[in-house]
Amino acid sequence: MKERADLVVHGCGMLATLSGPARPRVGREMSDLGVIENGAVAIRDGGVAETGSSEDIMRRYAAAATVDAKGGLVLPGFVDCHTHLVYAGSRENELAARLRGATYLEILESGGGIHATVRGTRDAAPEELFRLGARRLDRMLAHGTTTVEVKSGYGLDMATERKILETAAALDERHPVDVVRTFLGAHVVPEGVERSAYVAWLVDEALPQLVDRAEFCDVFCEEGAFTLDETRRILEAAGSLGYGLKVHAGQFTDLGAAGLAAEMGARSADHLEFVSSEQIEMMKTSATVAVLLPGSAFFLASDTYPSARGMIDAGVPVALATDFNPGSCPAFSMQMMIVLACLKMKMTPEEAVSAATMNAAWAIGKAARCGSLERGKQADLIVLDVPSPAFLPYHFGGNLVRRVIKRGRNVPPRAQ
Ligand code: NIG
Ligand code: FE
Repeated sequence: MKERADLVVHGCGMLATLSGPARPRVGREMSDLGVIENGAVAIRDGGVAETGSSEDIMRRYAAAATVDAKGGLVLPGFVDCHTHLVYAGSRENELAARLRGATYLEILESGGGIHATVRGTRDAAPEELFRLGARRLDRMLAHGTTTVEVKSGYGLDMATERKILETAAALDERHPVDVVRTFLGAHVVPEGVERSAYVAWLVDEALPQLVDRAEFCDVFCEEGAFTLDETRRILEAAGSLGYGLKVHAGQFTDLGAAGLAAEMGARSADHLEFVSSEQIEMMKTSATVAVLLPGSAFFLASDTYPSARGMIDAGVPVALATDFNPGSCPAFSMQMMIVLACLKMKMTPEEAVSAATMNAAWAIGKAARCGSLERGKQADLIVLDVPSPAFLPYHFGGNLVRRVIKRGRNVPPRAQ
């Protein structure tokens, strides 16, 4: 008697299952993609029933439908574990100013940057924010991303922060991509508000009132944003309310936030262009995931990328994300981040795949449901037009994803 499957994806020239121990991948483990040559995935009820050789799976399963991967590379759907997806407006004028020599932090200080997007987002109707967010998720999905973390942080008042988080919740409900929510009220101090009053508001009002609307709390610890002491105070309050902790650490300046994240047991420390080796050691001990965002260094035309090699060699789990946002990285594609990870940070294609799937799932606490193709996990997978990971940075600049399967269902062509 054959076992029942709703869908079998077979003929995968290389099926990268990413199967392995239930913890983030570190060091050499990041090179092991759990590959099955000529593999297949049996899918039932939206989840992975089994992976194995095409021959074995096709013999043992009676499939209601099949997909022939035609020798292509098959991966778990990408997990984009750091985005600022819900906002209104755009900032292409700032790119032009930066090309003339202005810096990101100068633009921010003069009332542009994040402040400009805050003005646009406060003015936007919820329906408009939803429409914009859904369109961005469509494009991400078409490029192979099946789970996205979304931060607030373009409201900086109760009504707008709530509006952003509610939009993210509606996207999670109504769009095929899974959305995980993070409260980033501590993005910058809003214009016209006194600094200590704003931090007090975050701690005493915003965090307690929004605790049901976000799983994580993040702080932008940076010159022109929040100090290390303020970051500690905000994260301590968040931790005691039950939020998971994240921090934007060392994007432009090393204020010590990566070490703080490690000390506080944060789930991730993100950016890390400027970070001391002592803090890297602390992150290793605490298993805080290093979320690297090479797209923002690239788009800000910086020569300084995070030291991915140093972090991997030190045994810190490394993940990749787009940092999708209107100022420092308006890019949708995790494939592009893999290109930059390899060419700018000297990661191998295999390490970059681990970082964009399994370790990214750990960075948002979702490794039990995504990031690898193992029995019982969601059947989120992508079929690529290339035979192996080595081709991902090789054919750069296009979309190599031929098919996206989300929770066991083919994603409709509209979204692709
Ligand atoms: O991660 N650095 C802070 N936040 C974003 C940028 C947000 C913006 O410029 O709108 C980042 O790069
Ligand atoms: Fe960010």
